Amino acid sequence: MKNYITPLIFMFFFSCSIGQSIDYETQIQPIFSNSCMPCHQGSNPSAGLDLTSYDNVMLGSNSGAVVDIGDYQNSVIWQEVSSGDMPNNIANNNMGIPDLTNNEVELIENWILDLQCMVILCEENYQCVLGECLCINDADTDEVCDESDNCPNTWNPDQTDSDNDGIGDECDSTPLSIDETTRKYEVMKTVNLLGQEVNPETKDNTIIKIYQDGSIEKIKQIK
Ligand code: HEC
Repeated sequence: MKNYITPLIFMFFFSCSIGQSIDYETQIQPIFSNSCMPCHQGSNPSAGLDLTSYDNVMLGSNSGAVVDIGDYQNSVIWQEVSSGDMPNNIANNNMGIPDLTNNEVELIENWILDLQCMVILCEENYQCVLGECLCINDADTDEVCDESDNCPNTWNPDQTDSDNDGIGDECDSTPLSIDETTRKYEVMKTVNLLGQEVNPETKDNTIIKIYQDGSIEKIKQIK
């Protein structure tokens, strides 16, 4: 049993501390290995950029970093592959290396965003995905985590809860507060048969109570 648990615990801490959803070795390096060789390797790689490992990619080219963590549009490597400049167009004819597919460009895009997760520490119940802290559990996808969602199964990003009972209006069968419902039945005015306002305590023969919701009640008092 122990033998199963130890690696599991290790994996748990590993995935928590790294928190990345894109794996460089299995998802990104193969793109570079397939489409960027033989130019970007060896003792004199093109532009001084060696694309044979994560560390080398991060070392950059002769003109500096090619990856701007969290900002793919500013990353030279993304600019080169999304514009189709790389793999080198001229080389296409010579070497038959096709442009990257849209999926591959998108993967590089996401990888650059995801790299931010190395430095972002998300709060409890959140996980870092592509550089953003997202809820681990969010059944209704309203970006309010289930744990703190006042309607966990109903999309209500504004979380309106008029009666403050902890159940959001969207899924509350009685969204109005008890205060508000009773207030409707509060007496607004007490009048006599002539429509003159009288003291509610008055001992007039007949008084009429006018309620806030517009209803009236005629009360015959017995002296
Ligand atoms: C056939 C050779 C060849 C292939 C294949 C190739 N490159 Fe290049 N790459 C070059 C050359 C030559 C330069 C320098 C001149 C230029 O920018 O066009 C360069 C420049 C670059 C630069 C610019 C570096 C800087 O700082 O200016 C980046 C980034 C780059 N390549 C990335 C890639 C990626 C990623 C791939 C694969 C998807 C790739 N290259 C495939 C030859 C190649």
